[in-house]
Amino acid sequence: MRKKIVAGNWKMNKTMDEAVALTSEIVNMAKDEVRNDAQVILCPPALYLTTIQKYITDLPNFAIAAQNVSDKLSGAYTGEISAVMLQSIGIKYVLIGHSERRQYFNEDNALLAEKVNISLAHGISPIFCCGESLNQRQNEDYIGFVKNQLTESLFHLSEEQLLNIVIAYEPIWAIGTGMTASAEQAQEMHAALRAHIASKYGQEVADNISILYGGSVSAASAPELFQAPDIDGGLVGGACLKSRDFTEIIKAR
Ligand code: PGA
Repeated sequence: MRKKIVAGNWKMNKTMDEAVALTSEIVNMAKDEVRNDAQVILCPPALYLTTIQKYITDLPNFAIAAQNVSDKLSGAYTGEISAVMLQSIGIKYVLIGHSERRQYFNEDNALLAEKVNISLAHGISPIFCCGESLNQRQNEDYIGFVKNQLTESLFHLSEEQLLNIVIAYEPIWAIGTGMTASAEQAQEMHAALRAHIASKYGQEVADNISILYGGSVSAASAPELFQAPDIDGGLVGGACLKSRDFTEIIKAR
């Protein structure tokens, strides 16, 4: 059965000292809360990956994710980080398709499909982010829009490959705004995405894919969201930068 996952996306925040302090606080407070079927994933800036990794090596239910990966294998791409490099330091997850990457770095569904492919080829599981804007929610077929993000970036994968993907539904209007989607709104989308996966790969595969909700998840909103049948945890931004808040969210899972 699918895993319950709480992932913390630190984005471009924290100095090295602050990153280390945050990690040790989270590990100390949360390590006894995370049991067999559950996973906590920390997504620090790339510069800190190897340092943060040392704090979780003995904790099987903790993992580290990179926030980005290049779609290229190697070569003259100044500033980029490749899947080979991430693999060489033992990274198991990577965020792909975050709305900030789509918006500020013009990453489209076709490019994201390349990033998904190159990650899987190097044993790294993509946490594939998708979600609609407020304008799309109000004026368009917003469910169709998000389903299409999956179709165009993931549906070329084999069943075996798809089972290595985690999906994070993150409505853009909820990210960093304090405007969390209601449990009903999130559940509606999660159920639609699971049905979409089932229509292509069958129900059994769909039932084994973790679909996380992201967008202003807080210690207050997490319990109700995580109760919903198709919400398998959260991708947390702002609230993951405070150890106490993040631990409360981990406990809510
Ligand atoms: P937020 O960010 O929790 O601050 O809204 C979520 C995300 O961008 O992954």
